[in-house]
Amino acid sequence: LIDQKIDSLLKIMTLEEKVGQMNQYNGFWDVTGPKPDGGDAAKKYEHLKKGWVGSMLNVTGVKNVRAVQKIAVEESRLGIPLIIGFDVIHGYKTLSPIPLAEAASWDLEAIQKSAEMAAEEASAAGINWTFAPMIDISRDARWGRVMEGAGEDPFLGSKIAEARVNGFQGKDLNAHNTIAACAKHFAGYGFSESGRDYNTVDVGTSTLFNTIFPPFKAASEAGVSTFMNSFNELNGIPATGNTYLQRDILKEQWKFDGFVVSDWGSIIEMKAHGFAKDKKHATELAANAGSDMDMESYAYVEELANLVKEGKVKEEFIDDSVRRILKVKYELGLFDDPYKYCDEAREKDVLGSEKMHNASLDIAKKSIVLLKNEGNLLPLSKKGQKIALIGPLAADKTSPLGSWRLAADDNTAVSVLEGLEKYDGNNLTYAKGTDLTLEQPEFIKELKINTTDKSEFGKAITVAKNADVVIMVLGEHGFQSGEARSRAVLDLPGLQQELLEAIFKVNKNIVLVLNNGRPLTINWADKNIPAIVEAWPLGTQSGNAIAQVLYGDYNPSGKLPMSFPRSVGQIPIYYNYKNTGRPVLTDPGIVFWSHYSDIENTPLYPFGHGLSYTSFVYENLNITDTFKTNGTISVSVKLTNTGKTKGKEVVQLYIQDKFASITRPVKELKGFQMVELNPNKTKELKFLLTKKELGFYNNTGDFIIESGDFNVYIGGSSNTVVDAQFNLNN
Ligand code: IFM
Repeated sequence: LIDQKIDSLLKIMTLEEKVGQMNQYNGFWDVTGPKPDGGDAAKKYEHLKKGWVGSMLNVTGVKNVRAVQKIAVEESRLGIPLIIGFDVIHGYKTLSPIPLAEAASWDLEAIQKSAEMAAEEASAAGINWTFAPMIDISRDARWGRVMEGAGEDPFLGSKIAEARVNGFQGKDLNAHNTIAACAKHFAGYGFSESGRDYNTVDVGTSTLFNTIFPPFKAASEAGVSTFMNSFNELNGIPATGNTYLQRDILKEQWKFDGFVVSDWGSIIEMKAHGFAKDKKHATELAANAGSDMDMESYAYVEELANLVKEGKVKEEFIDDSVRRILKVKYELGLFDDPYKYCDEAREKDVLGSEKMHNASLDIAKKSIVLLKNEGNLLPLSKKGQKIALIGPLAADKTSPLGSWRLAADDNTAVSVLEGLEKYDGNNLTYAKGTDLTLEQPEFIKELKINTTDKSEFGKAITVAKNADVVIMVLGEHGFQSGEARSRAVLDLPGLQQELLEAIFKVNKNIVLVLNNGRPLTINWADKNIPAIVEAWPLGTQSGNAIAQVLYGDYNPSGKLPMSFPRSVGQIPIYYNYKNTGRPVLTDPGIVFWSHYSDIENTPLYPFGHGLSYTSFVYENLNITDTFKTNGTISVSVKLTNTGKTKGKEVVQLYIQDKFASITRPVKELKGFQMVELNPNKTKELKFLLTKKELGFYNNTGDFIIESGDFNVYIGGSSNTVVDAQFNLNN
């Protein structure tokens, strides 16, 4: 039925109106105020009235969305509704943890729920399309956008991509509280050279198929409505002008039937890449390559109709793009009611509601990773202690909101200080120690961090001297990661390392609570500080979640989705590396093997690492079936809670295909389960390995499965503890 409606609409649309559907503009004037009289805004306003705009981004709030939708629906000839897009990356008004943090929960249900809540809040504010999930795999902590993804692993990344798409889109895209999702950035953005944002990407076929593509394929299979292409070039061709990516792989091979939006200005940026001669040429390349919608390049609206008239872009390509865009609008129900997301009463009820805050707290607790806990310094006892709370992020109510928080107000997060104050059995004293505040705490401004003023050190040292336990909240400001926030040095920024060492001199009982949007290099802390808690930017409920973990009201269960390097020099560092021809030292004292002469090969904390207040033992890894009998291998393992408290463990299964026609990684995650056990309880867990887990993509992009020997490893991190072997006779 939708197809028929689209056919009839296409028949009556002029070429300019069709191209208009492929044009997306940024919010440009106070849509509820007087109409703009001149400049760019007036031009955009006229285009809206002519039906030359298919989508707007960054128009938020029911009042504004209604006003802009009204122009498209009531003043343009055909009255086609706009699709309203926004970066709902980890919540809208109420923020959940940054996506990298949520990935650390390994809790697919909780992650899906978090996206569901974000969709409910955003849709109540007029939004019907999010530019999320970002599902770029990255092995480079220097890249600021690792905060926005699910880390380094394609298996975990694919599961999370699927969960997030399902969360945003729900079972019914037509419902008023679900929104269209966007799998981005297709493709390769996470492999920007040296972690510098927007940089060149040059990767081999095997990495492309086995590491970069899987989460995108999973999102497509989950029915994601849209894709966003990418700022980067891939092997010499910018993603926006890349026919292989957008037409051959995405639309032909994967049969994706939604639409592809460009990234902001990425069509015109092909000129700077040295791929397009001018704007007209860039338009031709992008449209022919399968980019369906132009975000803010003003390229399609200005050049595309002429290119069709000149025969440089086929009109059937235009029809195909428009068909895809209209289809999503139909599926959202915008044709039935263009104002369906514009309900002031719902907006008032939903935004910042208790339901949102509860959901945010739930996933925030689950995202925390206990990196180290020597001598069981944690959990803190609830009574009779003198606690010093120190650090520039300890009382901060903005930084925990993280990057990509365009609709959330400053100072709306619960700080660690506020969270701890709710536990009143202890004597709590706070000192900032040093500054990490930004002159302009805005997404679009460069950062300025204090590197000279130590005037606050003295007070912090005094407070620490008198304490039984010192909690130090250090790390990155929320805006130190995110788009265009690459860093070449991953130490604690500013004077924080100096502060940490100064406090350590007077009190060694330190719990270091890290807030950071990426893995940091914290070797000194790992060596000297007894307890380290990874608490990311955790969103609106940050301080409450951290306090509940520190006091043991929530037993930490998170596991790292990215390896922590010992040094920036090790990057890219990831658990699923290849062996090389010289993986180990064979002859003592001989130098010729694959290693560094100044640092170990291993990361400081491996992928999958995360402790609990209890302990777990793994035993009896058994392989019970063979592939021949029913197409699966069944693996079982026994897990026992050997500690004193109830706890959750993420049991991780890895395989190694020991010999293949294309070299395979030393370990690949192929299954995980979250289990909660009471003390002294044991559970037997079963995993099924099928073709999907045992095969891989060859260099022509075919998925194959080969006979041979495999290792299976299971444990609570990628440093696994039990293993077994099997032979696959396919
Ligand atoms: O969605 C984002 C994208 O990830 C980076 N450039 C801008 C887009 C829209 O805000």
